[in-house]
Amino acid sequence: MSTLLEVHSLVKNFPVGDGLLGTKRWVRAIQGVSFTINRGETLGLVGESGCGKTTLGRCLLRLIEPTSGQVIYDGAEVTALDGRALKAYRRRMQIIFQDPFSSLNPRMTIGKIIEEPLIIHQMHGDATGRRKRVEELMELVGLNPSAMLRYPHEFSGGQRQRIGIARALAVEPEFLVCDEPVSALDVSIQAQIINLLMDLQKRLGLTYLFISHDLRVVEHISHRVAVMYLGKVVETAARDSLYARPQHPYTQALLSAVPNPTPNVKKNRIVLEGDLPSPSAPPSGCHFHPRCFLREDRCRTEEPDLKALAVDADHCISCLVVK
Ligand SMILES: Nc1ncnc2c1ncn2[C@@H]1O[C@H](COP(=O)(O)OP(=O)(O)O)[C@@H](O)[C@H]1O
Ligand SMILES: [Mg+2]
Repeated sequence: MSTLLEVHSLVKNFPVGDGLLGTKRWVRAIQGVSFTINRGETLGLVGESGCGKTTLGRCLLRLIEPTSGQVIYDGAEVTALDGRALKAYRRRMQIIFQDPFSSLNPRMTIGKIIEEPLIIHQMHGDATGRRKRVEELMELVGLNPSAMLRYPHEFSGGQRQRIGIARALAVEPEFLVCDEPVSALDVSIQAQIINLLMDLQKRLGLTYLFISHDLRVVEHISHRVAVMYLGKVVETAARDSLYARPQHPYTQALLSAVPNPTPNVKKNRIVLEGDLPSPSAPPSGCHFHPRCFLREDRCRTEEPDLKALAVDADHCISCLVVK
């Protein structure tokens, strides 16, 4: 299996104005994240709100500039590209947003919304060629092409997300960042959109970074999963190992809070101490230590790296206690 995307030591700090005495304050949204995604696979990225998932997704596409680190896409360093070369890569990497309503221009017909990227990237020839492509895309995502002249507000949430997907696919990308694409939808509609994404992945050979705070949704769609906590990846593994044998205490706590699909199997809920700390003042040592039920003294001062488990080279965790 070949690697499509590699992320090395990615960091993103947002300046949040000057503090007292002229000291600059920063939100440390991404604090040294590394992972890879294989071609044709889905990497699920999970974690609580505010842990840096959206920031990470946007840094990969250079919609925002990372502070440091590298993103390597199909062998080329995206973080070093500019001008035409960057535009060419932008075509290959697209994003689907959480809220399909605010991301669609309310004054454009959906035909125009889907056509726009074809104009920007000069694809599919003239107006007739582009129109044919728009019809094809609408059919691909399960929309009736006769709805081309209607406006976004005339569609339901699920249909709007289909429009967002058609627009993202217009320029034939290989890689999609799906940023909480079903979080704003009713549960019954969520499954339809997830199934559409899985079907499109098979048909078009797409690779996904699928961002969600919902562990059940991520379990359904992902081949591999990365768990984030306060700007860092604390665990990565193949989907089945992560869900069957979570190793990091944070992942264990997250999974213990998911409602059990088999009610007669009893689960012990792990309740974490305290709240999620602010990313502008992350704790020393292991960021998770103030809330961790396994913490030892050294966790306050030593920072763990993401390392493979002795029993499974494909399952990595960032913990000083669990090995
Ligand atoms: N443009 C920005 N300026 C300042 N802080 C930001 C900005 N974007 C995100 N943040 C902060 O970075 C952290 C991570 O945010 P985000 O990536 O949106 O998390 P998630 O998607 O996991 O909910 C949060 O503390 C958020 O407030
Ligand atoms: Mg987000």
